[in-house]
Amino acid sequence: MISTSTRTISPAESRTPPPPLLSIERVVKDYQTDGEVVRALNDVSIQIEPGKFVSLVGRSGCGKSTLLNLAGALDFPTNGHILLDGVATDSLDEKGLTQLRREKVGFIFQSFQLLHTLSAVENVELPLLLAGHRDPRPRAMERLTSVGLAELAHRMPHQLSGGQMQRVAIARALVHRPLIVLADEPTGNLDSSTGTSILELLRRLCTEQSTTILMATHSIESAAFVDFMVQMRDGCIEQIVQS
Ligand SMILES: Nc1ncnc2c1ncn2[C@@H]1O[C@H](COP(=O)(O)OP(=O)(O)O)[C@@H](O)[C@H]1O
Ligand SMILES: [Mg+2]
Repeated sequence: MISTSTRTISPAESRTPPPPLLSIERVVKDYQTDGEVVRALNDVSIQIEPGKFVSLVGRSGCGKSTLLNLAGALDFPTNGHILLDGVATDSLDEKGLTQLRREKVGFIFQSFQLLHTLSAVENVELPLLLAGHRDPRPRAMERLTSVGLAELAHRMPHQLSGGQMQRVAIARALVHRPLIVLADEPTGNLDSSTGTSILELLRRLCTEQSTTILMATHSIESAAFVDFMVQMRDGCIEQIVQS
C-alpha cells in the first residue's frame, strides 16, 4: 500500500496496514547552482508498505532521481523527512548512514555500474564482502542463479550483453537481502524486449522475496508490472495509480 499525506490507497480499507517501510514526509529539495535555486521536489509525501513494487514516472527533470537519492540516504531533504524502516535518515551520523546504505538498501542504475575488472560473481559478492562476510561465494552464486545467470558467473562484464549486465547488477543489489531496492531507469539502456524481461524479473523477485522496490522509469509499460505507479510532474506528485 502507498499513501500520500492526504489520502490512503488500499485494496482492503478495513485491514490495519503494516507500518511503512519508506515514509517520505513533506519533502522539499532545493539545489543551488550558480546562485540560482532549483526546486527539484516540492512538498512530496508518500508512504510505501513493505513488499510493494512502486514506479515513479514522469518527464525528465520532474524529480525522480532526486527522490531515489533521498530515499537511499545518498542526499538529504532541504525540508521534511525521510524515514527508512522507521529511522529518519537525517538523524544518523556518517557511520550510521554507511551502515544503513550497506545493509538496508540495494541500488540499480541505468548504466549498470559493474566493476569492469571483476567477474560477474565477484561483482555480486561485493556487498557481502563490505558487510564482512568471509565466504560470500555460495550466496552470490545463489543470487546469480535466481536471475538466470549461473552459467555466466565467471564472465567479465565486457563479455555480457546489456540485459545480462543488468541481471548481474540486480543480483548484486539483492544479495545482502536489503529492505528496499532503488532502481533508477533500470531499463533505460536496454532494447524494449530486454527491458520487459528485466521488469518481469524485478516483478518476480518482488513477489517471491517480498522485496520492496522503488523504480524510476520512463517506461509506461512498467505499469503492467508494478503495484502502484506514482506520476510526478515538476517536483510534485500528480497522482498515484494502483495497478
Ligand atoms: N545535483 C544537482 N544540482 C542542480 N540541479 C539538479 C541536480 N540534480 C538534479 N537537479 C535538477 O533537479 C530537477 C530534478 O532532476 P532529477 O531528479 O534528476 O529528475 P529526473 O530524474 O526525473 O529526470 C531538474 O531540474 C534537475 O536539473
Ligand atoms: Mg533521473
